This record gives sequence, C-alpha cells and structure tokens, in this order.
Amino acid sequence: MILDAEFDAIALPILKSPLYAPTKEYVAHGNTSVYDHCLNVATSAYAYAKSKKMKIDYHALIRGALLHDYYLYDWHDKQNRAKYHGFSHPFIAARNAKRDFHLNEKELHIIEAHMFPLVFWIFPGSKEARLVSKFDKKCCSAEHKGKPIPLFPKLNRAN
Ligand SMILES: [Fe+2]
Ligand SMILES: [Fe+2]
Repeated sequence: MILDAEFDAIALPILKSPLYAPTKEYVAHGNTSVYDHCLNVATSAYAYAKSKKMKIDYHALIRGALLHDYYLYDWHDKQNRAKYHGFSHPFIAARNAKRDFHLNEKELHIIEAHMFPLVFWIFPGSKEARLVSKFDKKCCSAEHKGKPIPLFPKLNRAN
C-alpha cells in the first residue's frame, strides 16, 4: 500500500505499467528520479486535498500528477532533450500520456498547465490543475534541498 486504498487503486495501474518504468531511469533533479518526483507530487497533492475534504476529481488529480512529467527523455542530455524543455515538456508529456494511458481532457489539462506561470498561456483552469502545479513546485523545492515531501496529514507512505 502506498497511501490508502483509493489512492492505490488509481495509481498502481500506472506505477506498475512497463510503459512507466523508464521514469525510474531519468533524473528529475538532484537525486530524485522522475518516478519519485511524480509520486511525490501525486501523494502530497492527494493528501493535502483529502485533509481539506476537497470535493474534486481524485481520479484525474492522481493520474494527472503521476503523468505530469511523462516526457520520457533525460533533460540533462543536451543532444536528446526537447528544445526549450521548460516550455515544451508539458505538451510532450501530455502527448505521451494520451498515447499510453488514454487520458481524458481534464487529465490532459492538468499536465499541460503544470508549468504555469512559466508556460503563461495555459492557465490552470481547474482545482485539480492548480493543486498539481502548486505541489510540483513544493516538491521540486523539497527535493532540491533534500527535505521531506510535505504530506497533509502525515500519511505513511511506502514505496
Ligand atoms: Fe514538469
Ligand atoms: Fe514536475
């Protein structure tokens, strides 16, 4: 069990998919893989929303969070990364996620809007998109500093 039964039922089909396995090989930043970074964003956004009893689409939140950086290349590799990675990777991730996991429009929007305000022309237009964008930044910062990922309330997370 990662967080709770609801989280696991939605997350595990993606986390255990062989298509998702390459994210374990790519580094997001510091010592954190893309896999761990996406799991951090999904668990912290989910735990926060549950603690606030938010009435949102948890299915879309978890899937969007897990796939928000599903761009599938090493962005440190200047030869093989996409041009203007910061700006382009949300759209590459959305395209890959749609192809491999058949996302709906709400889930695709979460991915495309996560880099706001850098990607200023895609405003996070749903609560789920704003949560992922917010916790992406919080987790990036915590991962850079080697600090624990914020969980509200503190749920025991196993990897
Ligand atoms: Fe990203
Ligand atoms: Fe991210």
